[in-house]
Amino acid sequence: MDLFLDTADIEQIKQGFNIGILKGVTTNPSILLKAGKSRSDTIKAILENSNGLLFVQTVSDKYRDIMIEANELLSFDSKRIGIKIPVTPDGIKAIQELKKSSVKTLATAVFSTSQAIISAIAGADYIAPYINRMEQNGIDAIEVIKEIRNIYEMNCFETKILAASFRNVEQVIRTIKAGAHSVTISYELFCDMFNNYLTDKSIKKFAEDWVALNEKIKIKQ
Ligand code: E4P
Repeated sequence: MDLFLDTADIEQIKQGFNIGILKGVTTNPSILLKAGKSRSDTIKAILENSNGLLFVQTVSDKYRDIMIEANELLSFDSKRIGIKIPVTPDGIKAIQELKKSSVKTLATAVFSTSQAIISAIAGADYIAPYINRMEQNGIDAIEVIKEIRNIYEMNCFETKILAASFRNVEQVIRTIKAGAHSVTISYELFCDMFNNYLTDKSIKKFAEDWVALNEKIKIKQ
């Protein structure tokens, strides 16, 4: 299972990668807008401050333009940049073409099983189904994930489900339980995955008992 951070915030990326369990970073134009710098500057900064894959989304509509954009993005670091492409017919054509040169691809804005099948046939390394956006639109995201995973297993597709668009940890767990291979989450959710008040309470008690033990030993001496 791979865990990605869905952010372009450099401080968050530094903090997250410092822990060492992250596979990479995913971005989209809305995330870049939040970061507020040019796409090139943000790509350079993320590459400098992380050590995994960086998926950058193309914004072109037409196959040829998507390919030009993909090659520009790859010129930053062909080993670490992955190309994230929306699942349109032109996008799928580009995924198939990029696959020929072993470029890592992520088919994004996936909302249905049929889009997941098409992406896998094209040879996408990952697909990104948008869990929260599905649930907000009355789609049973968990059923979709189960169905995709079943079909991928039955057909021995190598494409991995990299689920995206989450609002809480419970959504993440349900999605992984349903069969997602990997997830991309915000930094806030990454932190929430660690947090539990009982852990804090236990650590506090251990610290108190450690102090108490040292006091006890001192008194005996
Ligand atoms: C991920 O790759 C998607 O672009 C992203 O997770 C969408 O998430 P949102 O629905 O929180 O914007």
